[in-house]
Amino acid sequence: MRRILAISGSLRQRSSNTELLRAFALLASNALNVVLATGLGELPHFNPDLEGHEPAAVIAFRDRLRDADAVVISSPEYAHGIVGALKDALDWVVGSGEFSGKPVALFNASPRASLAHESLAEVVRTMDAKLVVEAGLHLPLLGKNLDAKAIAGSPEMAAAIHAAIEAPKRTA
Ligand SMILES: Cc1cc2nc3c(=O)[nH]c(=O)nc-3n(C[C@H](O)[C@H](O)[C@H](O)COP(=O)(O)O)c2cc1C
Repeated sequence: MRRILAISGSLRQRSSNTELLRAFALLASNALNVVLATGLGELPHFNPDLEGHEPAAVIAFRDRLRDADAVVISSPEYAHGIVGALKDALDWVVGSGEFSGKPVALFNASPRASLAHESLAEVVRTMDAKLVVEAGLHLPLLGKNLDAKAIAGSPEMAAAIHAAIEAPKRTA
């Protein structure tokens, strides 16, 4: 079974982006082994001087990325930019190369968050990852306060998530 690392850009307990990734994990469980990345909040600020003697949290994040066949990122937009915690995590793997050649899909839980989404796509491409646009997903969850079960239980949202799960097979 393909192993997918799901990364939420939001550190919030009841994050709509995290719940979207959890719904994706629920609906994909027959086809994909989706693992939610934890510990993004424990990563230190990226500092090139630490390369070669990285903190344990960085090593663990790189290991999880290396083990993944593909990555799904769902993130909010803060002040028209990429969330700092997510950009920091990505900066830690620019030089080490775990993103290189990795298929990456971008989810978006807010219809307003287009600037950060585009910016994130550019970062992913710059890191030589393989942006799988057809496996991306935009769902308007902002302000709805839905948990993963409610998202997965909505016929319209489940259909959109299933389409993202199936998209790579259709285009393979
Ligand atoms: C500091 C801050 C800045 C934000 N800036 C934007 C923004 O520029 N554009 C936008 O669409 N939403 C913005 N928002 C709203 C977030 O996108 C919204 O809270 C979103 O639901 C957060 O995702 P989450 O539920 O996964 O935490 C901002 C929220 C915060 C807390």
